[in-house]
Order: sequence, then C-alpha cells, then structure tokens
Amino acid sequence: MGTKERILVTGGAGFIGSHTVVQLLKEGFKVSVLDNLDNAVEEALDRVRQLVGPQLSNNLDFHLILGMRTIWRNCFLRANAVIHFAGLKAVGESVANPMRYFDNNLVGSINLYKVMAKYNCKKLVFSSSATVYGQPDKIPCVEDFELKAMNPYGRTKLFLEEIARDLQKADQKWRIILLRYFNPVGAHESGMLGEDPKGIPNNLMPYITQVAVGRLPELNVYGHDYPTPDGSAIRDYIHVMDLADGHVVALEKLLQSNGIGCVAYNLGTGRGTSVLEMVAAFERASGKKLPIKLCPRRPGDATAVYASTDKAEKELGWKAKYGIDEMCRDQWKWASQNPWGYKSKP
Ligand code: UFG
Repeated sequence: MGTKERILVTGGAGFIGSHTVVQLLKEGFKVSVLDNLDNAVEEALDRVRQLVGPQLSNNLDFHLILGMRTIWRNCFLRANAVIHFAGLKAVGESVANPMRYFDNNLVGSINLYKVMAKYNCKKLVFSSSATVYGQPDKIPCVEDFELKAMNPYGRTKLFLEEIARDLQKADQKWRIILLRYFNPVGAHESGMLGEDPKGIPNNLMPYITQVAVGRLPELNVYGHDYPTPDGSAIRDYIHVMDLADGHVVALEKLLQSNGIGCVAYNLGTGRGTSVLEMVAAFERASGKKLPIKLCPRRPGDATAVYASTDKAEKELGWKAKYGIDEMCRDQWKWASQNPWGYKSKP
C-alpha cells in the first residue's frame, strides 16, 4: 500500500487518540501527533510504535505542545487534515473549574482553527460528544435533535460545534465532520493500549477496572430506582476500536468529498446497556466478582441515552462491530496486563 496523506492528530497520545493513530498508520496515513501530555503519556505512543512495527512507525512523529499555543508551522504546512481530540473531559471538574475548560477546550480550539486557516489546512474531524443531547426527551438520539448542554464541559462541546458550523458557513473551503461519541470503552485487542485516567476515575468502565484489579475497594452504582428494567441507568457503550475505525472512515470522506460542509454523526452502537448489565458482563469477562454498593443517583445523570446509528451507516458506511462482551474482554486484557495503566505500581 502506498503512503497516503499526512494527518495532524491533536491529543493523539490520549485514550481515543492513540487507538485511532494505530488505525491511521495501518491504513497508510502519515501521522503527526500534537499533545500536551496533560492527561496522557508518551509511553502510549511507544506502544503504538510497537504495535504497528518499525516500518509504519517511520510515518509517526510526535510534538509536545503546551496549551495549544505554541504550534509547529511545519506540521500544519505538511498536514492535509486535522483530527482534533485534545481537550479536557471531566464533567465534575468542569463544574468546579469552568475557566480551565473554557480556556483549554474553547480557546485552545479557536487557536488551532486560526493556525489551520493561516496554513490553508481546512479539513477537520472534531471530537464531539453525546453530551450535546443533554437529557434527551426521546431515544435513540438522532443528529438533528435540539442540542443542549448540562454543564461547562458539555457547553464547550456544544459551543465548539456551533463555532465549527459558523466557520464553515463563512468560508466554504472548510470541510468539517463532528463525531458525537457515546460512551467509549474497551481497549486495543493486544492489551497494549487502553484508558489510563489520572486519579480516581469518573467514568464507569475505568472505575470497574480499578475495582477488578484491586486498586479500589468497591463500585458505587449511582441510581437503582431509574425507570429501567433493573433500575440502573442505560448508556450506549462503544468499543474504542470501533470508534477509531469511525474516525478513519470519516477522514476518508472528508478527504474525498467536496462540499460536505459541516456535518455531525453519532458514533455509538445503537444499543443501550444498564450499569448492572455492564457489571455482569465484566464479571463474565474477568472471572471476578465485583463488590458493588447501590447508591443514590448521580446529579445531572440521564435515565437512558443511546444513539441512532442510521446516519453514520448510510453516509459513512460505518457500523460498530463489537458488543459489550468484546468490550469487557479487551478492557480486562488491558487491565490485567497493565493494572497500573502505563505506569508501574507506585
Ligand atoms: N456510574 C456508576 N458508578 C461510577 C461511574 C459511573 O454507577 O463509578 C454510572 C453513571 O451514574 C451513569 C453510567 O455509569 O449512569 C455511565 O457513567 P459514565 O460517567 O461512565 O458516563 P456518562 O454517560 O455519564 O458520561 C459520558 C461521557 C461524558 C459525556 C456524557 C454525556 O463520559 O464525557 O457521557 O453523554 F459528557
């Protein structure tokens, strides 16, 4: 396979970024990663190199950036498109420290778009989130639903979607795909790459994982009185490798089609899974019994959120391949091989 275009990936050392970089390299793209390593480690990219082998590793370069302000002219001059993952994503932290979120996510992205425009690199895939549906009145969530934000983190994603739409309206040379992720979980099937959050995890899957490896004593299940079959809340969990493949097809579309404008796609499986179903699936995959504590609902949580996947299927030809058993299998492989993430035991 010949080498394809060069893609600049912000946040490429992070959880979704690193898995996507593997798939991009395997597809023959050249990749420049820009990351400030605020919530990621360079070891993830070393693992990416091991996974793709020495030859494809020549197509990967890494640049450390600080707050997206110092940007490497060369990277942008050479890049054909940008996949913009970089950003902060903890809902609770965004409520406590909104300015950090506005500065990092909003100002950081605006600076990025200015540099992209300056170097005439106007093709963008942006990491949006199901958070832009707020607490949806109806499910499944369809891309043309009214958008709402429930917290400062969600507002940054919503504003950045609006900014992207305005940017593209004003200058039709921009081609922008907004990918709305549902709940990304799982890990690379090799067990070499996975999610490695700093501090106590906020999200369900990393929390479950840390209970299973003995780093945390028990899982708090937030809410057991929801109007759902088992009383726990329902989400659309998607395997990170499906998500990574979703970026590759979105990028191909962006590079090939003129006049796509600014368009949003859900990346989810279209299936809802409750917290207790996810716990049971992880217990099956790991062979471990997870101690749980039934707790009150977490403020701001929706009862049930899952994606309509029709648009991505029709227009991108993309559909998630994996179910929760594969997600838990790969998550457990990563966790059992790397109980302390990319670090060794402190
Ligand atoms: N949960 C627990 N115990 C935990 C952690 C989570 O029971 O320790 C529950 C939550 O209450 C929720 C479900 O597991 O019912 C999923 O929670 P996550 O925090 O894993 O995911 P969310 O659906 O709340 O959040 C995700 C993304 C956010 C995004 C949000 C909005 O992580 O970035 O979806 O759709 F904003």
